[in-house]
Amino acid sequence: MHDGSGSISAPSFATAVFGSAGIPVRRLGLSGTYRPGREAIHYALDHGVNLFFCYGFDGQTIRTLRDLSPSRRREIVLVTGAYNLLWGHPDLRRTLEKRLRQFRTDSLDVFLFLGVMKPRQCPDDVLEELVRFREEGKVRAVGVSTHDRAFAGTLAKQGDLNALMIRYNAAHRGAESDIFPHVTAHDPGVISYTATRWGYLLRRPRGWPSERPVPTARQCYRFVLSNPSVDVCLTAPANLRQLQDNLQALADGPLAPDEMTFLRDFGDIVHRRRSTFTPSEANPTRGATRR
Ligand SMILES: NC(=O)c1ccc[n+]([C@@H]2O[C@H](COP(=O)([O-])OP(=O)(O)OC[C@H]3O[C@@H](n4cnc5c(N)ncnc54)[C@H](OP(=O)(O)O)[C@@H]3O)[C@@H](O)[C@H]2O)c1
Repeated sequence: MHDGSGSISAPSFATAVFGSAGIPVRRLGLSGTYRPGREAIHYALDHGVNLFFCYGFDGQTIRTLRDLSPSRRREIVLVTGAYNLLWGHPDLRRTLEKRLRQFRTDSLDVFLFLGVMKPRQCPDDVLEELVRFREEGKVRAVGVSTHDRAFAGTLAKQGDLNALMIRYNAAHRGAESDIFPHVTAHDPGVISYTATRWGYLLRRPRGWPSERPVPTARQCYRFVLSNPSVDVCLTAPANLRQLQDNLQALADGPLAPDEMTFLRDFGDIVHRRRSTFTPSEANPTRGATRR
């Protein structure tokens, strides 16, 4: 959908070039999975957000983007994909064709195989199929969304895929050693999720002194964006007010050293106290995804 037009020029804290695909992006991308409302999606568009992530069931986002004028739609970087099924991977081509129909377009920007929990769920024939989509010109960037950091690191080293979607936040920083050092060789575009760690980074954990602050959502996104290996951090606000708040993260810039120390210390506590929650994209609905 994106034709390379738009106002993003040199990379900065707020903007980046999406890996070797060379797509200019605003570094906060909007996910409408928690249904922030059409007004919020328009607000994001009007305030420079150009990357939108959605599943096939994110009807509010799909309808809002589909209804834009053709020139506006060409400015959008659309990220979508096919979800891994626990009983076997889906027909990727059929899903791609469905997404093209849903968005009434003949090409997509980023198409991901979503919800890969283990490498065996993403065998070579799946990777080859994704690469074929790119070679056929149906998609500009193809990749995998996975919680398995070692697998993401391997994919980055292999270099066949030119997009990766991964977990990264102040509590889960393993990407700093398992993934980011490996992206330099082939430069896949990197999208991160769970900046708020399913909201846990915004709540006072047991044992955290009452006189000490807890991070703001804005700080959580700035933590992620302070890492230059991340091209785009997804934000999934629940409403317009949250979106407005979160977009300020781009204007605020990187975390100051004392804020970075605070976020890492707080993240350590949250990580130590982590619940038995097992993340899963297999059922990426609000409740199931986040708790
Ligand atoms: N989570 C996963 O494991 C995972 C994996 C792969 C892909 N994804 C996808 O990635 C996308 C992004 O999800 P995410 O979990 O990364 O989203 P996120 O932006 O980290 O978290 C969104 C939640 O954080 C809270 N929040 C956001 N802004 C806030 C603000 N300004 N003030 C207070 N609270 C605020 C809200 O929770 P309240 O509603 O409680 O206020 C909101 O629903 C989604 O489409 C998701 O399905 C997620």
